[in-house]
Amino acid sequence: MLTYSMKKSSMKKRKRKNKRELLPLVLAWGVLLLGNIVSAQIYLPKPAPEPSEYGKVILDNSKTGPGAVVFDHWLHRSMYTCRLCHVDVGFAMQAKATGITARTNREGFHCGACHDGKKLFEGRTIFPACSDTPNSNDQQCNRCHSVGKKGVRKYEYKKFTAKFPKGVYGVNWEAAEKSGVIKPADFVEGLSVGKPKMQNRQDLSVVTAYPWVHPVTFSHEKHSIWNGCELCHPEIFPTAQKETIHFSMFSNIEGRYCGACHGKVAFPLNHCQGCHTNAPPWAP
Ligand code: HEC
Ligand code: HEC
Ligand code: HEC
Ligand code: HEC
Ligand code: HEC
Ligand code: HEC
Repeated sequence: MLTYSMKKSSMKKRKRKNKRELLPLVLAWGVLLLGNIVSAQIYLPKPAPEPSEYGKVILDNSKTGPGAVVFDHWLHRSMYTCRLCHVDVGFAMQAKATGITARTNREGFHCGACHDGKKLFEGRTIFPACSDTPNSNDQQCNRCHSVGKKGVRKYEYKKFTAKFPKGVYGVNWEAAEKSGVIKPADFVEGLSVGKPKMQNRQDLSVVTAYPWVHPVTFSHEKHSIWNGCELCHPEIFPTAQKETIHFSMFSNIEGRYCGACHGKVAFPLNHCQGCHTNAPPWAP
């Protein structure tokens, strides 16, 4: 009898204890769930523009001349690596920061590094940039000075990318390269100098600081092939020391770290699963 009642009361106690033990668990689950919902809300970058507009740079610094210029990444990145333009030619990684003018182009810098009427691409000479004798009706000028003009361009996004593999967001550039539909050149005679052999391209796994956030895969090797080392080190990732900086999703959204490219030219930050591999299916 005594033992029975003891058992009963201890069972009651255990039940109460179980409830008390469950409370932190329930709270933890709540926090995790909330964490998931909240992070999907606050870490949501602003929507990306149409793929045809993505990576478009409008150069309208000049008050004189045949009008504003359009530069499209979708066209040029299918022909050249990021490294070739941003290191060998020397374009800034920020719109309008390079200081391109008709004169620099004529002297063979900037756009004129390729658009000089002499250099070849797939056996054809590349049409030349700004000449000394401005003539706003010149068809050739309007191919670049194209803002607000219809039917002056040869290439159009939809037609040009029709045969490229598509992903969640526009062209899947990695797949396009793998399948061989594009072969971006990393060397242009007269522009590039012989490169030293690249070293240290081991992949890094970026472990996020929060348990509910899916880990990020970052391929050092693939990125080095597209970007060389110089596009990231030392400017975007100032350190060559592992895990010395913590780059948060907020700073990505502000356009720093991964966001220096992802959100401007490489696939946008809205595609969470592109980086947070194995993220839940409801994530974009
Ligand atoms: C044919 C040359 C060329 C290639 C190839 C190229 N870029 Fe650019 N990129 C430019 C030019 C030109 C600008 C504008 C610079 C300026 O206005 O001063 C630019 C600007 C940028 C910007 C800043 C955009 C903004 O809105 O502020 C980023 C980021 C960028 N490029 C990344 C890349 C990446 C990543 C690749 C490879 C996938 C790439 N670029 C390939 C020429 C190129
Ligand atoms: C690394 C070489 C390279 C550089 C640098 C470069 N381009 Fe090009 N660009 C090309 C090639 C090659 C083509 C394709 C030409 C063709 O097929 O007629 C092209 C095509 C274009 C077109 C397409 C024209 C059309 O009719 O659709 C525009 C516009 C253009 N470039 C603008 C620019 C501007 C503006 C700059 C400088 C900010 C620039 N490019 C820098 C290589 C380059
Ligand atoms: C390959 C692309 C390209 C072509 C083709 C081109 N331009 Fe330009 N041009 C530019 C860029 C880029 C700028 C700088 C625009 C800016 O920042 O506002 C520019 C600027 C100019 C300016 C403004 C003055 C200055 O010093 O910046 C004049 C004038 C000009 N171009 C004339 C011409 C004429 C004339 C032609 C045709 C014979 C021509 N351009 C063809 C890319 C081109
Ligand atoms: C270009 C790659 C990339 C994309 C795309 C991306 N993330 Fe991240 N995310 C990162 C990196 C890198 C970190 C930081 C890892 C570290 O150092 O802790 C991170 C961290 C986070 C964190 C943890 C909090 C923090 O600030 O460190 C959250 C939450 C997060 N991402 C949510 C998202 C959501 C939601 C999306 C889609 C809307 C998304 N991410 C898309 C690369 C990306
Ligand atoms: C797309 C950007 C990007 C490119 C391109 C890139 N890196 Fe890195 N690198 C990173 C990031 C991100 C880290 C980690 C930084 C951190 O954790 O603080 C890193 C870390 C490193 C480290 C320290 C960690 C380690 O693995 O020892 C070295 C060394 C390094 N990079 C060398 C290179 C070299 C050499 C190249 C060219 C072959 C290169 N990187 C190209 C982004 C890049
Ligand atoms: C200098 C520009 C640049 C920076 C900085 C950069 N990326 Fe990328 N990344 C690219 C380009 C270009 C591609 C090719 C695909 C595309 O353009 O959409 C790419 C593709 C990827 C891919 C898909 C290919 C793969 O590796 O499986 C992942 C994942 C990725 N980036 C993650 C990151 C993360 C995480 C960071 C920050 C630590 C980062 N990237 C920083 C330019 C960049």
